[in-house]
Amino acid sequence: MKLVIVGSGYVGLVTGACFAEFGYKTICVDTDEKRISNLNLGKCPFYEPGMDDLLLKHLNNTKLLSFSSSLKESMIDADIVFITVGTPSRRLEDDADLSYVWKVAEQISLNIKKYCLVVTKSTVPVGTTKHVKKIIEKKVIKENFDVVSNPEFLREGSAINDFIRPDRVVIGTENKKSENMMRELYRPLYLRETPLVSTSIETSEIIKYASNSFLATKVAFINEIADLCEAVGANVQDVSKAMGIDQRIGSKFLNAGPGYGGSCFPKDVKAFSSTAKKYNINLSIVNAVHQSNQERINNIATKIINNTNSNATLGLLGLSFKPNTDDIRESTSIKLALLLKNNGYTIKCYDPEAMENAKKEFSSFAYCETAIDACNKTDAIIIATEWNEFRALNFETIGKFVNDKKIFDLRNIYNGNELEKIGYKYYGTGK
Ligand SMILES: NC(=O)c1ccc[n+]([C@@H]2O[C@H](COP(=O)([O-])OP(=O)(O)OC[C@H]3O[C@@H](n4cnc5c(N)ncnc54)[C@H](O)[C@@H]3O)[C@@H](O)[C@H]2O)c1
Repeated sequence: MKLVIVGSGYVGLVTGACFAEFGYKTICVDTDEKRISNLNLGKCPFYEPGMDDLLLKHLNNTKLLSFSSSLKESMIDADIVFITVGTPSRRLEDDADLSYVWKVAEQISLNIKKYCLVVTKSTVPVGTTKHVKKIIEKKVIKENFDVVSNPEFLREGSAINDFIRPDRVVIGTENKKSENMMRELYRPLYLRETPLVSTSIETSEIIKYASNSFLATKVAFINEIADLCEAVGANVQDVSKAMGIDQRIGSKFLNAGPGYGGSCFPKDVKAFSSTAKKYNINLSIVNAVHQSNQERINNIATKIINNTNSNATLGLLGLSFKPNTDDIRESTSIKLALLLKNNGYTIKCYDPEAMENAKKEFSSFAYCETAIDACNKTDAIIIATEWNEFRALNFETIGKFVNDKKIFDLRNIYNGNELEKIGYKYYGTGK
């Protein structure tokens, strides 16, 4: 089987490299020519554990993976073409901007010469894959293609493992022929007994948004419980632990923190609700989750403002939206830093991987070489992203060169009692 992946971003490249790992000849295509020439040199455009090795292995050794900016050449003999372009929020709107998807669908339609599957792997609102079909039908006879929805559930930071050992694979198809091709494609996963959920195209599209919105709901829910815990002197970590042991609830996504961010949850929650509205369905829970998450970061900023002097210098640890990625899209850490900066604070920051991305967009923070440098001469330290290297900082030593011993632990990675014993004022989240 020959595969073509259109859009060589986080999802496209992980998909391409992992399908090569399964043994398929795979070409990743992108309109960004610089990105493609770097990829041909084995340079991955983002930080993702294990990606560099996987790219090099299949680019240079197995030669199963290649990169191209020409969709036309790439599509010769293609059996399956994946659409993995971005579907960001439309400017000032809640719904998804599908312009990249429509464009790719048109380009694909010009290059189908023999039967192939066109698969939407981008996260797309219900109805999109069928619309892709309509676009392609204008140029291609219907015997020569089928459309499929195959949403992606990988998480940045553990993307390769998530792709190779997924909890489930969802395929939405219209007929047995395309379902069988998709089953054949994912056959390497049967060995691991991965559930393959076969549905209609519409159901498959909804599964992705419902899953992300549900996870976002868990995050927003526990954050509100954290506020209550703080108000009454309870401990949200104990609440989460006891709730999570209940198998009906589960422990994942129940950690209180600064709210959800990243390239998926914020836009997907909004787009899900916006799509439902078009069908006169009010997803009131999803709307409330979005609202709650918006307020969350303002409340965290207020808590810091209320407990520090104005014009203070703050040491911000972590800029990426979560550990093990350099992705800063919709990062709560950056949002918080901007709110505090606007309130007169000086922000010194450090992140193990996301500094370059942050520097390109935000010039008003002081970027430091190490976590220790970011804490030097500060009036308070904020732990915003729970990178492993922030989990065992020597606060006894750090305490010797800060102006004030104050820590806002937004991710609850430290034991407040221990830090208070060495003279810190500790502000956990929900405890
Ligand atoms: N990032 C994640 O963790 C994740 C997880 C699951 C699903 N998704 C979904 O996957 C989709 C892609 O997300 P991403 O984070 O990989 O996006 P991204 O922005 O990292 O990558 C998109 C890529 O598509 C390229 N592109 C745009 N138009 C193109 C065209 N006409 N032809 C070829 N390439 C083109 C861009 O240059 C870019 O490199 C989105 O719908 C997203 O919601 C993302």
